[in-house]
Amino acid sequence: MTREEFQARCRVRRLNIGDSIEIFDCHDEDLNDFILNEASFYRNALLSVTYVVEDKSSEEVLAYFSLSNDKISISDFESKTEFNRFRKHRFVNEKRLRSYPAIKIGRLAIAKSVQHQSIGTYLLEFIEDYFIVDNKSGCRFVTVDAYVDAIPFYIKNGYQFLNNNDEDKHTRVMYFDFASLL
Ligand SMILES: CC(C)(COP(=O)(O)OP(=O)(O)OC[C@H]1O[C@@H](n2cnc3c(N)ncnc32)[C@H](O)[C@@H]1OP(=O)(O)O)[C@@H](O)C(=O)NCCC(=O)NCCS
Repeated sequence: MTREEFQARCRVRRLNIGDSIEIFDCHDEDLNDFILNEASFYRNALLSVTYVVEDKSSEEVLAYFSLSNDKISISDFESKTEFNRFRKHRFVNEKRLRSYPAIKIGRLAIAKSVQHQSIGTYLLEFIEDYFIVDNKSGCRFVTVDAYVDAIPFYIKNGYQFLNNNDEDKHTRVMYFDFASLL
């Protein structure tokens, strides 16, 4: 799907309090369960905000993602040396903070029927625009606990591993630096 086709066919909508989604299948039970049963509880408790991608004509939910505030700080690294390495090539001395503001992609899922058609890529671009253009607060990075199977997708979109101490896990922490787009 080209970007123009995506924009013509789909709309991205913030899930409102009380909205319920009846049908969604991305072939991952946890991710299905979240949008079908959990998203509104997280929204009501101010823990995450979920956005759905709908087909404008059928109103079918084709994808969703949820976002929460996050930070990148020294506790994310194996040692202070590693944290300093992360900070050094990005920030001059006076901007070396103890932690940096970030947004976390808590969940991201594309319906099985439309996977591999660039929708995931367009959603990462949507998030980039959302936090750079008309941003309401400072937010330098995007983070995600990436499923191992989805790592190639994030790498293709410019994400990097935060550290090497989670190599054996079924998810790995990855990040994207918004400043790379300025
Ligand atoms: C991973 C996922 C978000 C990618 O979104 P997408 O719209 O299908 O991906 P795009 O078309 O924008 O990008 C294509 C790349 O994504 C990856 N990809 C595509 N479908 C995938 C799938 N089913 N599983 C894993 N990776 C996939 C591949 O690296 C692909 O590159 P290639 O064409 O060179 O093989 C989506 O397939 C999905 O929702 N998978 C199931 C749930 C999941 O893993 N969510 C991520 C949680 S961290």
